[in-house]
Amino acid sequence: MATILVTGGAGYIGSHACQLLAGAGHLPVVFDDLSNGHGASVLWGPLETGDIGDRRRLRAVFETWRPEAVIHFAGLIEVARSAADPAAFYRVNVAGSLALLEEMAAAGARRIVFSSSAAVYGAPAVSPIPEDAPLAPVSPYGETKRAVEAMLDAFARACGIDYAVLRYFNAAGADPEGELGERHDPETHLIPRLLRAALGLEPRIDIFGTDYPTPDGTAIRDYVHVSDLAAAHVAALDRLAGGGGSLSANIGAGVGRSVQEVLEACRRITGRSIPARAAPRRAGDPPELVAATGRAARELGWSPRLSDLDTIVATAWAWHAARGA
Ligand code: UFG
Repeated sequence: MATILVTGGAGYIGSHACQLLAGAGHLPVVFDDLSNGHGASVLWGPLETGDIGDRRRLRAVFETWRPEAVIHFAGLIEVARSAADPAAFYRVNVAGSLALLEEMAAAGARRIVFSSSAAVYGAPAVSPIPEDAPLAPVSPYGETKRAVEAMLDAFARACGIDYAVLRYFNAAGADPEGELGERHDPETHLIPRLLRAALGLEPRIDIFGTDYPTPDGTAIRDYVHVSDLAAAHVAALDRLAGGGGSLSANIGAGVGRSVQEVLEACRRITGRSIPARAAPRRAGDPPELVAATGRAARELGWSPRLSDLDTIVATAWAWHAARGA
């Protein structure tokens, strides 16, 4: 059994990863400031509350638990907010990651899995996107992820830290056991918004952009089930522990779905009408983001099992409908 420090482990993806880590026999120690995460989602190990930029707190946690590896989820995620408040994003995502890496190096923890994003590619010229496509973020959020990727590479060379950078596409769905799901406040993501509209908690959904150069005019994304995404972290830890070396890999289903297709799947699976209206494009949204998934399959032995759109929507719906929210 390995002790794994999971920053942001009370959040949506982090909590699903803790569930799988515990299932694989590890002890997930969650470090989270609970600004977006939920204490009630920390079910498989201790919760240490603290700010990711607080080196003294981090040092105390490393001394108490002596984790052999770190999974670093903690960070701000809303692309639109990153344009309005870049300082917060650089402080939490970049300075916070630096604090974590310095404390890891000081404590002798030598392995880290980092939550990066398809946002590092910006609006890519090719689809599906291979990992060696140019990194050209179009938002401060994406810039912070690219900066941390570069920082990890420098620390790897200087301090002998091995890393796995996982570039997530669109995390969606909920734990099939019904223990965990997606709860953001405010909720900006497409599927939970659609399901809130299905429950009558929102009057309708706005479709951000109906004039994209896509077959139905709405934007295309690669939706990957959160439990599949969580499994990629366990696979990445195994690779690093086995001496497989650092890597950066896309984690997506490799299938593009349009906003219109997701809307229709939600209508069909919920049996509710879900009123929708066309709205202007959201600033910074590229037309299409779909992962090339060969590297994750080859290097991590990872492939998605739950990431077909119907399973994603059905598990998310089970979670939202059970909570009424
Ligand atoms: N969308 C709508 N209406 C809504 C919400 C979303 O039409 O009410 C559209 C968006 O414009 C986009 C698609 O649905 O085309 C998906 O939007 P999400 O907000 O669910 O997800 P994003 O693709 O914007 O963002 C996700 C992650 C980010 C990450 C980004 C790129 O949440 O952290 O993918 O990797 F940066």
